[in-house]
Amino acid sequence: MINKCLFPAAGYGTRFLPATKAVPKEMLPILTKPLLQYGVEEALSAGIHNMAIVTGRGKRSIEDHFDKSYELESQLIGTNKEHYLEEINNLVDQASFTYIRQKQMLGLGHAILSGQPLVNNEPFAVVLADDLCHNNGDNVLTQMIKVFNEYQCSIVAIQEVPMKDINRYGVIKGHLVNNSKDIYHVDSMIEKPAEEEAPSNLAIIGRYILTPEIFDILKELKPGSSGEIQITDALLVQALKGRVIAYKFKGKRFDCGSIDGYVSATNYFAKKAGIKI
Ligand code: G1P
Repeated sequence: MINKCLFPAAGYGTRFLPATKAVPKEMLPILTKPLLQYGVEEALSAGIHNMAIVTGRGKRSIEDHFDKSYELESQLIGTNKEHYLEEINNLVDQASFTYIRQKQMLGLGHAILSGQPLVNNEPFAVVLADDLCHNNGDNVLTQMIKVFNEYQCSIVAIQEVPMKDINRYGVIKGHLVNNSKDIYHVDSMIEKPAEEEAPSNLAIIGRYILTPEIFDILKELKPGSSGEIQITDALLVQALKGRVIAYKFKGKRFDCGSIDGYVSATNYFAKKAGIKI
């Protein structure tokens, strides 16, 4: 069972300055919903009700967003805008939210390690909210949980990306599991390789299921790419023991950490909502 989902949400969002000077990048909206809310809804529909959020300074609006707002309620109740409350409260009522602050920005691996007190000693999901995923049918996390249930080891979601973009990702080298077109045993992995070093075009996207041994590995890890503690390097230690599966998920993914991905996601969701632009 995967009961908890960790959301690293402490980054500065420099690519979106000045918007992210006072607004956390996870709170930037696609249409009317903040990116982080899409992630929380994905976790909920995958059956996970405990959201563990790693925040940092200047991120208090995240806590306020996933809480009751009695002032808003008293303003809207009894008006023709009351229906807005329903969606907000439904979400807040269905999930529990716990928070911890990452005190220093030492990379994604460090952010995940900072979340250890919130997830304890059990396998957990990780969602990077700026990778916005959408598809009809089972969502990405649900698909990954099915893979986890079969293999009981750490799982990374992957997709094929153009080689010119490969240096933006963790990249795997793997071999297909028998009789499968989308499940790989990971032999090796590398964070943000140059194009000529990349072992494949199979890039890790921001969805993981991690077994709790990852924390001991992260504690021992030296800084890697960009001088940061990288989750890819920790997973490599597990992969070398044959304990990591990569899963080519079904669905769309938008890199909302980049401006072009953010605009594409906005256009995609607007079209889906029937908004004429
Ligand atoms: C992080 C991970 C990287 C992964 C990517 C997916 O990088 O370190 O391995 O491929 O997320 O979005 P970041 O986007 O934080 O630079």
